[in-house]
Amino acid sequence: MTDTKETVVEGVEALTLNGKPDGEPVETGTDAQAQEGAAAAAAEDVVDPWNVASSNDTGVDYDKLIKRFGSSKIDDEVIARFEKITGKPAHHLIRRGMFFSHRDLHTILTLKEQGKPFYLYTGRGPSSGSLHVGHLIPFMMTKWLQETFDVPLVIQLTDDEKTLWKDLKVEDAIKLARENAKDIVAMGFDVNKTFIFNNLEFMGKCPAMYQNIIRIQKCVTFNQVKGIFGFGDSDIIGKIGFPAAQAAPAISSTFPFLFGNKKVHCLIPCAIDQDPYFRMTRDVAPRLGFPKCALIHSTFFPALQGAKTKMSASDQNSAVYLTDTPKQIKNKINKYAFSGGRTTVEEHRELGGVPEIDVSYQLLKFFLEDDAKLEEVRVAYSKGEMLTGEIKKLAVETLTPIVEQHQAARKLITDEVLDKYFELRPLKCGS
Ligand code: TYM
Ligand code: TRP
Repeated sequence: MTDTKETVVEGVEALTLNGKPDGEPVETGTDAQAQEGAAAAAAEDVVDPWNVASSNDTGVDYDKLIKRFGSSKIDDEVIARFEKITGKPAHHLIRRGMFFSHRDLHTILTLKEQGKPFYLYTGRGPSSGSLHVGHLIPFMMTKWLQETFDVPLVIQLTDDEKTLWKDLKVEDAIKLARENAKDIVAMGFDVNKTFIFNNLEFMGKCPAMYQNIIRIQKCVTFNQVKGIFGFGDSDIIGKIGFPAAQAAPAISSTFPFLFGNKKVHCLIPCAIDQDPYFRMTRDVAPRLGFPKCALIHSTFFPALQGAKTKMSASDQNSAVYLTDTPKQIKNKINKYAFSGGRTTVEEHRELGGVPEIDVSYQLLKFFLEDDAKLEEVRVAYSKGEMLTGEIKKLAVETLTPIVEQHQAARKLITDEVLDKYFELRPLKCGS
């Protein structure tokens, strides 16, 4: 573990292939050093596909991350243009700054303005039988974007990735991919506009994908993936080659049954931990004669224990799973959800709570759609009028019906329903 941690830090610091992130000096030093208590305040947040760690109670400093990664902020101007072109208010996750960063979103908006085609691409690494509520975030956004733009969507399940990274057999990863696909389908994606595939099976059915993987692998050296992902000499070779498999779906010729040989632009919604893959993809795509993929990045839904790290499927107690019962949800939130409240009721009434570090409040920010109600809660909690027990109760009441509805929808997903999404076929969209 020490070994991997060190390599991750290197990967994070060494960053991009295509130019440097806004002139910040490359720092050296080991993860262990960086995490030392004394240095904690000055330490950089760790954000990569495997780890999210911040020494701050408020979590990752996302403005700093934008600079380090060299992406662009989704500011009021971007939101205004978005609303003007789509003719409707932006999604609450955009308005509230949870989708905070982008690459080339303007290109996509211009395509929309001109009535030109593009497609959406997102994915999931099936590492557990069930998704957690944090995973809903990119998929909620993807669904909303698909409905807003009426464009094709491809969803990649990287069962190959999870076989390589986890203690997981090929056969079992394929099974998990299918289970996860049920959770995704249950979110209500339109089967006429959505194609879902798992790498371990799709590649055998669609030679175009493997051909693109090889084209991509031919463009990237070991030194480059070392720099981007922190791979080391003792990493298995599968890991070193894998990033090309996550890059390929951003190249439209990977899906001849969807796009023929057209060079179609692609927009990828994901949390910002996935950005390293797409920095690499954006460097390679033009060299293969394809447009660079655009991205829209979300912040992380925090672990129940607090925003120092993300909600993660590999830590049971950090997450509310989509399979949890109402009782489990209530217990988990009451027991684990980090509180921004004070130690005694008197103190809380006097000083007020701190919503910025309160996980129940964060949960409401992601899942409570009513802006007025959310603001009411923020003010009441900050003033100490609302107590920790009360905000936790509201968080439980907000999340429980979402999870229950999800479970009811998932029950209806038979193998037959699921198979339709996996069928190689043209999709029917407006553009
Ligand atoms: P995975 O399975 O780790 O995560 C799936 C998606 O969920 C996001 N995510 C989160 N978002 C908010 N809060 C959290 N706590 C949280 N945890 C995870 C991830 O950023 C991701 O968007 N290698 C990928 C699978 C993949 C993919 C893609 C993802 C393949 N192609 C294209 C996005 C776009 C993975 O293991 O994701
Ligand atoms: N060990 C990590 C996991 O369980 C994977 C990982 C972390 C990794 N750091 C890495 C892989 C650096 C390659 C390089 O998911």
